[in-house]
Amino acid sequence: MTVLEKIGSPPARLAGTALYDWDFLVQEDRAHRLIYTDPAIFEAEMTNIFGGTWTYLAHESEIANDNDFITRRMGLRPLIVLRDATGTIRALYNRCTHRGTTLCRWDKGNAKSFQCPYHGWNFLNTGKLRGVPWPDGYAEDMRDAKYNLAQVPRVESYRGFIFGTLNMDALPLTDHLGPIAKIIDEWLDRNPGGKVVVCEANRFRYKGNWKLAYDNSCDGYHVAYSHRSLLETENRFAGENAKGMAYYRNSPDAQPMYMRYTGHGNHFKDKRPNLEQRPGGLWALESAHPGMEHYEAEFIKRYGDRAFSLLDLAGSEPVNINVFPNFSLLGNHIQVFEPVSVDATNAIWYGTMVVDDGTLGDAVTDINALRMRTQEGFPNFGEVDDVANFEQIQHGLMAIEDEWVYMNRGLGIPGRIKTNADGSITAPATDEAFMREHFKEWKRLMKARPNLAIRREP
Ligand code: FES
Ligand SMILES: [Fe+2]
Repeated sequence: MTVLEKIGSPPARLAGTALYDWDFLVQEDRAHRLIYTDPAIFEAEMTNIFGGTWTYLAHESEIANDNDFITRRMGLRPLIVLRDATGTIRALYNRCTHRGTTLCRWDKGNAKSFQCPYHGWNFLNTGKLRGVPWPDGYAEDMRDAKYNLAQVPRVESYRGFIFGTLNMDALPLTDHLGPIAKIIDEWLDRNPGGKVVVCEANRFRYKGNWKLAYDNSCDGYHVAYSHRSLLETENRFAGENAKGMAYYRNSPDAQPMYMRYTGHGNHFKDKRPNLEQRPGGLWALESAHPGMEHYEAEFIKRYGDRAFSLLDLAGSEPVNINVFPNFSLLGNHIQVFEPVSVDATNAIWYGTMVVDDGTLGDAVTDINALRMRTQEGFPNFGEVDDVANFEQIQHGLMAIEDEWVYMNRGLGIPGRIKTNADGSITAPATDEAFMREHFKEWKRLMKARPNLAIRREP
């Protein structure tokens, strides 16, 4: 049996009347500046979005063994995501039930219990209070469940990706992912054994609202302009204009790539149709990086015909898969958007490694060394372009009287946007259809009175 505590929120301000007229703030073709700048809206998002829907927390490979833990956040809530002694994955609130200090100050580790640094209360990694110093000073029974750590009541994994929600009425995770699960499968299944292991991360903090990153996650309109220096760098030594994201340069909407919205705020931009379908087709797109020619020559010498399929495992998969509100798979990365305040966000890029399923042998180390090099590419030379624009938007939106941002590209042009049999929507790569659609989901969640709860061990 578990103990569920229903949350009295939405916060008092939301309980009576709505905080704002959401239909006014987010219209079909435009969004009001307040949704990016108003601290009260940010606070409501921390309950209704980061809490009201599934939020990505961590990858199972980060807590591979029993009693492994990692500290993460769900919105602003500090969490300890762990595997307990029986292998059960839990997301405990990293918040001592005594006076509220964070319990665990480490990023990751292995522990059966956590001792609070303040007064020494000790908790098992199931969340249960194990003991307090000098218990004879308490008249109350300290075995009362209210002293056990709060935890996220629903934690589910999809093929290693761990998500959590406080919303007792949310769909099961697989149903929530819906058609995008198949694209996640394809992203995983090109790797041996259909899996990856998560490594360390590139960490950025930008001075802008978290939604600016999600609004960019499927944006094919900005690439040729925002990332011009990266495109030029990638192609300077290539002798041809075909490296990296070069296909954005000339009429990107005439290319076979496309974007698709799959529901619940999720979408992907599929650049895979632009690839040559042959071993080495993906590797051919990789821009110059140190040591590349040496590795390529050595792979050909050692592995012969297999060399280029092995090198493709190091290449960056050209698809951006975005699960609202905070998760993206792009290239070989997992990118996580972590709100800090209304005008600050962490954008974290986790690298991933492939594992040897018996078919890679000694090539696995070299493939992963190359993956690290390719992973240095976009996060270092592309993400900086994007976060510079996010910060400049936050500045621009301080022009109070100029109220709207537009997302109407592709809207109202007959035949341009197609609805598929599964209800998903396909549009050309530069359309803002993805943004119009994820804002419908944002608005639905902001209007909702979610059935939120936390759980404690009995
Ligand atoms: S705040 Fe944790 S033991 Fe006092
Ligand atoms: Fe970008």
